[in-house]
Amino acid sequence: MEKTTLISTCIFDAYGTLFDVSAAAREAAAEPGNEALAAVWPQVAADWRNKQLQYSWLRAVARKHVDFWQVTKDGLDWALENAGLSDEALRDRLLKLYWGLSPYPEVPAMLTELKQRGIQTGILSNGSPEMLRGAVESAGIGHLLDAVLSVEEVGVYKPHDLVYEMVESRFICERGEVLFVSSNGWDAAGAANYGYQTAWVNRTGEPMDRLYAQPRYTLPDLTGIPRLL
Ligand code: LAC
Repeated sequence: MEKTTLISTCIFDAYGTLFDVSAAAREAAAEPGNEALAAVWPQVAADWRNKQLQYSWLRAVARKHVDFWQVTKDGLDWALENAGLSDEALRDRLLKLYWGLSPYPEVPAMLTELKQRGIQTGILSNGSPEMLRGAVESAGIGHLLDAVLSVEEVGVYKPHDLVYEMVESRFICERGEVLFVSSNGWDAAGAANYGYQTAWVNRTGEPMDRLYAQPRYTLPDLTGIPRLL
């Protein structure tokens, strides 16, 4: 593996990277009374995520920004209707679970190791400040993060450069010293194009996105992040 230049700052995407976006549908599907969801939850989770992201990009292009909680609700409504599951109680339950999404199991130990090594750490996410606070608090990782940055500060979604620029405004660091970590191929491409060292976490063996820049590293999960420093 190619050796990195010095990394002083490690920045993580939130949804899909630190927090498991499938967890809400998976956990709701296992609850009594949600048998209809149990049969179709993987499709609901995939539709929910795809629509949430599409709505964020479409709203950015159309300059019709609303916050990520709104596009998360809109994506869920589309996914539930597509599955023939439009049900208010189920919708409320899924949104409550999304507010406190489970982190991937390796997250606390990985962040602890980065902090022990004196690395600056943060989140840079499409999420609204309130939903990021909910996820960070429920995962109990707030003390391991120096900053939680939301695109709401700039009013446009990733992969706009204005978003990646927020890291340099918040942290004392050179652009090339930032390692940006995302499980979203298009987000890793955006950060790499901006000039950050980039690690793409490819948990499911997806092909690489055909976009305008490529990640420097590809990892199967987050356990290898400290070894890149
Ligand atoms: C985020 C989305 C891209 O957390 O998952 O920014």
